[in-house]
Amino acid sequence: MKKTSPISVCLFPAAGYGTRFLPVTKAMPKEMLPVLTKPLIQYGVEEAMDAGMNTMAIVTGRGKRAIEDHFDVSYELEHQIKGTSKEKMLADIRHIIDKCTFSYTRQIEMKGLGHAILTGETLIGNQPFAVILADDLCVNESDGVLSQMVELYKKYQCSIVAIEEIDPSQTDKYGVIAGEEIESGIYRVTNMVEKPSPQDAPTNLAIIGRYILTPDIFDIIRTTKPGKGGEIQITDALLEQAKAGKVIAYKFHGKRYDCGSIDGYVQATIELYQKGVL
Ligand code: G1P
Repeated sequence: MKKTSPISVCLFPAAGYGTRFLPVTKAMPKEMLPVLTKPLIQYGVEEAMDAGMNTMAIVTGRGKRAIEDHFDVSYELEHQIKGTSKEKMLADIRHIIDKCTFSYTRQIEMKGLGHAILTGETLIGNQPFAVILADDLCVNESDGVLSQMVELYKKYQCSIVAIEEIDPSQTDKYGVIAGEEIESGIYRVTNMVEKPSPQDAPTNLAIIGRYILTPDIFDIIRTTKPGKGGEIQITDALLEQAKAGKVIAYKFHGKRYDCGSIDGYVQATIELYQKGVL
């Protein structure tokens, strides 16, 4: 582990169907889609490790067993390539497996991101935790987005969402915040709305898939009514904390690729290849 962190657990909601990538996601989890030689979720796990976390709590669903197999040893394979030039290709994943604990629980019904996070409560308990949505792939030359957010958590000790400015026509794809800028790029959130139409959006500051949440969020989610799309939204639960001044929004440093869309996925693949990540 690189740093000491007040947060040791990272939750990965990974039960969604990935319908935008059908048919490839018919029998394969969308979190296992490769960007070059690594599946999306591995980038997320590496970002969490870099932020000092060593427990990965994964909310899975039917058809997601490849994720568990990926974060496990494969003795036959390792035996097969031992002593060959290929051995180093498993070094990163082996390092992850050695350093982290993985725990899993299944979400039986898809009732929204808030519901997925509540499903993970059994793996987290009463401690602050991070959330990574693996299809938002984030890269930065220096500290990763979650590392940046952990530093902020040390100062503010409340829930934090990562945000970026988006084209105002795109607000209906994101949770959107409004707030008071208390430091450059740091807002105390006063309002948040899940996927508002452009005319209803309070700003063009969109939440991306990185959160730090305080554990009181679980009780709030339990009483959160279904919102946008009839689903239990984490954005609605966070609004309750925001009303008490307990949510910070942070314009992160780095670049985020929306790998939940074909365009973003292709862009990530090309740009990481050009950067020589392989
Ligand atoms: C979820 C959240 C949304 C957030 C987005 C970031 O939406 O509900 O508030 O802006 O992730 O990727 P989804 O993309 O799962 O529909």
